[in-house]
Parts: sequence; C-alpha cells; structure tokens
Amino acid sequence: MKGDLFIVNIGQIATASGKKALRGPDMGRLLVTQNGAILVEKGIISYAGVQEGPDYEAALKKARAGAYPLLDAAGKACVPGFVDCHTHFLFAGFRAEEFFWRAQGLSYMEIHRRGGGIGKTAKATREASFENLLSSGGARLSSMLAQGITTVEGKSGYGLDRTTELRQLQAMAALDAMQPVDIVRTFMGAHSLPPEFSGRPGEYIDFIIAEVLPEVAREKMAEFADIFCEKAIFELEDSRRYLEAAKALGLGLKIHADEIEALGGAGLAASVGAVSAEHLLKASAQDLAAMAAAGVIAVCLPLTAFVLKEPYANARGMIDKGLAVALASDLNPGSCYSQSIPLIFAIAVLYMGLSFAETLCALTLNGAAALGRADRTGSIEPGKLGDILILDAPEASHLAYNSGMNLVVNTVKNGVLVYPR
Ligand code: NIG
Ligand code: FE
Repeated sequence: MKGDLFIVNIGQIATASGKKALRGPDMGRLLVTQNGAILVEKGIISYAGVQEGPDYEAALKKARAGAYPLLDAAGKACVPGFVDCHTHFLFAGFRAEEFFWRAQGLSYMEIHRRGGGIGKTAKATREASFENLLSSGGARLSSMLAQGITTVEGKSGYGLDRTTELRQLQAMAALDAMQPVDIVRTFMGAHSLPPEFSGRPGEYIDFIIAEVLPEVAREKMAEFADIFCEKAIFELEDSRRYLEAAKALGLGLKIHADEIEALGGAGLAASVGAVSAEHLLKASAQDLAAMAAAGVIAVCLPLTAFVLKEPYANARGMIDKGLAVALASDLNPGSCYSQSIPLIFAIAVLYMGLSFAETLCALTLNGAAALGRADRTGSIEPGKLGDILILDAPEASHLAYNSGMNLVVNTVKNGVLVYPR
C-alpha cells in the first residue's frame, strides 16, 4: 500500500532530520518550515518545504501531471508519524486488579511473586486462539492510527513456551500484512520464568537458546531479541548468554535494563553492542556513560513510571551526557496499560525536563533508530516514507501545550490517508 499525495497549505512542518539517531544537543534541533507543502509519490516523500519557489513549483507540476490526490491542511501543522519503539501490544486477557493493588501500595515485584504479573498474561495468551490474538491486536493497531502511530514495535514474551512465543510472532507478522501500521517484531522469550522452569532460570535460558532462538532467526520471525534483565528474573550472566546467542544468529539486541533495581543491565547493553537499552530508571552514571560511548539508544518509558508511581528516568541527564534518547509507551496489560502519546508529551515536557523539540525527536526519528529504521521513517524529508500527521493546531508545539489531548486529525502512512478512513 503506497500512495501519491500532495499536502498543501500546511501551517507548519516540524521534524527532526537525518537518517540516524540524534544525540545530545542535536536532539533539540528541529527543522521548522512555515507555510509548507509535502509531495509523496509512490509512498515516498519527494518534496517537503515551503509552498513557494522553483522546487515547490516543480512538485506542483508533478502533482498536477499525475493527478495526485490533494489534501488541504488549511493552516494546520504537520509532524512525522510517531514511532512507538517499545510495546508488548499483543496479549490476551487483562490484569485490572493489579492496577488497583498497586494504586494502594503493593509493588510490581510483590504482585509478580504472588503469581500475578507476566505469568498471568502468559497463561491467558497460551489459551488464546490465533484469531483472538489477531482481533484484539488489530483493534489496538486501529487505535494506534487514530493517535498517529505509524510504526510500532511488538514483543513476544507472553508465551514462555516454544509454541506460544512463535504464535505471537506469527500473529504480528499477519497483522503487519493486514493493516497500515508497520510492525517491527522482537522476540522476548526471556520475559519471565514459566512455571515449568520454576527456580531454574539458567535452564530456561538454555532451552530458549537451543530450541527457540535458532528457529526465530532462521525463519526471520523477529528482527530483535530482548530480555527482562532484573534481580530475581534473569540476572546479568544469563542475560549476557542469551543476548550473545541472539547476536550470533544475526538478531539485533534490546534489553529491559535497570527498571526496578540497579543490576547493571545498561552496562551489559553497551558491552554486547545492543541497539537500545530500555526503562533505565535505576541505571548508574557509569553504565550510562558506557552506553553513550557505545552508541546505545536509551529508550525511556514515562507511562510505566507514571503507572508504577516511580520517579521518571533521568532523560534530561542522559541527553546532557550526549546519549540519544527515544521515548515509547511500553503498552502491556500489567505495568502500563496505556499507549497515550499525548500523555508522553505532557510528562516529558512537564516532569522530565525535555524540550518540545527533544520530545518530538524522541518519539519519531530516535524511535525509528531504536528499530533500525531511521533510514526509512521518523522524519519528513525527501527519500523517507510518507508517514505524516496533520494536527488540529497551527503549531506542532501544541502536542505538549494542549496537554493530554489527541490532536491528530489525519494520519498518512506511505502516502495513503489511513485515518480517518
Ligand atoms: O516492560 N518489565 C517487564 N516487562 C514489561 C511488563 C510486562 C507485564 O507486566 O506484563 C515492562 O514493564
Ligand atoms: Fe517493556
């Protein structure tokens, strides 16, 4: 699905720019064009700039010659489609009770120990049919389009056995082909210890390395592998073994690191050459410096900290240290049953000390880079996919200022208007 589209009368185009993650001070440098137009041909942006001058005239001529559909933005602002680079969006069942237990003070790990948590969702997901996963996942993808998410990462990790882990990846592959949001698949068999391996995390990792990872890689069922590296889940040594095995099979690496305790997962990410390390609420200064030196992207998940009532990751400090920061939702049925992009904007600007420009970069270009797709999406520039949002605002900064409101009036994916349909 690749379209031609000419978007005119754009009040403001605001975008990060480039084909790789922006780091440190570069994250604050947006490309802003007033009174702009964008031409998308066969799904790819061929012009993005002011609505005057010879380059614009040439674009206009092409649009007329090809009789491309015209979209009049009527003075509204445009930004790139959002890239939500960390989610667990494919799952069965819910865990509403845990939300209220935590609201009353029970911790995430306490609930995990009592048999709630990931184990509960894994049980429901094992029992769910393929069709059930497709329909609940499909519904979530539709709401993603309504808030402007054009690329999403989806992790397995609610099977914790060979069959269900693979079924989750197959369901995401099917969904990728069925609807407009691009889905980047991550294998996360090492998300929690299944009951069959209770008390034996090392043996479970051996099983995953021997019996599941090779097939995931051979059949190209995922681009990345991820692990929940955490005290009393999978600790450093098992995490390293798992990640090195995945790397040897050609998978990119991600890691849930230093979310609950400062175990050193961020340092591990740097030493194994991970693309990104995620959560990082407790990451040490030394490990963050190692990440900066190794070029590992820091993925911060403000909605999870919000829901768990934990202090936010120090994204401000990370950018000041020269790291590339991406922001994502972490949508999952437990620690964060939210994928609210508007809430991420509000928290990042009001409570994490990021500028609007840094936040937009973190939700677009740097998110794309965390998925190895910064060459294709994440900014509005010639050569990139036509993944573009029109906002109900004259300036992009209203995404933060109009706090918690969904301003997306149109979502364009690959040059096709996909929301509203
Ligand atoms: O990123 N931390 C581990 N995994 C998820 C939570 C998944 C769940 O609770 O179901 C996270 O927060
Ligand atoms: Fe997560």
